[in-house]
Amino acid sequence: MNTADAVAALRGRLDVQRPVAAIVLGSGLGGLARRIDGAQRVPYAEIPGFAPAHVAGHEGALIHGTLGGREVLALAGRFHVYEGHPMAQSAFPVRVMSALGAPVLVLSNAAGGVRRTFRPGQLMLIRDQLNLTALNPLVGPVVAGDVRFPDMSAPFDESLRALAREVAGAVGVPLEDGVYAGLTGPTYETPAEVRMLERMGVDATGMSTVAEVIVARAIGMRVLGITCITNPAAGLSHQPIHHDEVIEVTAKAAADFERLVEGVVRAL
Ligand code: HPA
Repeated sequence: MNTADAVAALRGRLDVQRPVAAIVLGSGLGGLARRIDGAQRVPYAEIPGFAPAHVAGHEGALIHGTLGGREVLALAGRFHVYEGHPMAQSAFPVRVMSALGAPVLVLSNAAGGVRRTFRPGQLMLIRDQLNLTALNPLVGPVVAGDVRFPDMSAPFDESLRALAREVAGAVGVPLEDGVYAGLTGPTYETPAEVRMLERMGVDATGMSTVAEVIVARAIGMRVLGITCITNPAAGLSHQPIHHDEVIEVTAKAAADFERLVEGVVRAL
């Protein structure tokens, strides 16, 4: 995993100038890619250091083009820890997109709602996160350019959150604000785990995002995080949780998500 090799390969394929943001498309939220004009795709298999993505709902390509008239990079597909990827690998694309010039990282994900008033399809602006994976992508020798002990007192950028709230109001998308907990998965939580999360102040629980936020902050990117609540977390309803249902709900919420992200990117 060498950032320079991936950057060189991508610069050879894409005409990257000054992207305003790098966007990570969560499960079922890949439809935003259709709104990217002049989109050029590079499959992960052709990028040094990337591994093929193979979870349903994840395409596995880095995309370059313009969204809302602004140059962006986007990732359709993630490297999840539950697939067996080391945590540093799961955040590697963030390093690459930063090295390609993106100063802002927009992360999206699908998650279970721990806050009892959340309904499927609700979008949540991530205010803060709990990394409950017991892993950290920065463990090991310090990567050149990183600091050993990065500050995490403001993981999600306050001015980007204010902008997202403003755009949400303007385009009529209901947006709550809350704390996201990242666990490794691949199991969904037990009801006891969800009660624990609730007591810890968690509003939404998922299996991604926390590693990318840690690396982004360590390399100085400003981060915006948007969660799509796809189901009440375990024990908060009588239904079992299925991945198909997660994809189905995100597909329905996708229109709101896309308008929100496009509006934010346009205003960057
Ligand atoms: N738990 C963890 N991850 C998820 C969930 C959930 O309930 N729903 C979608 N991703």
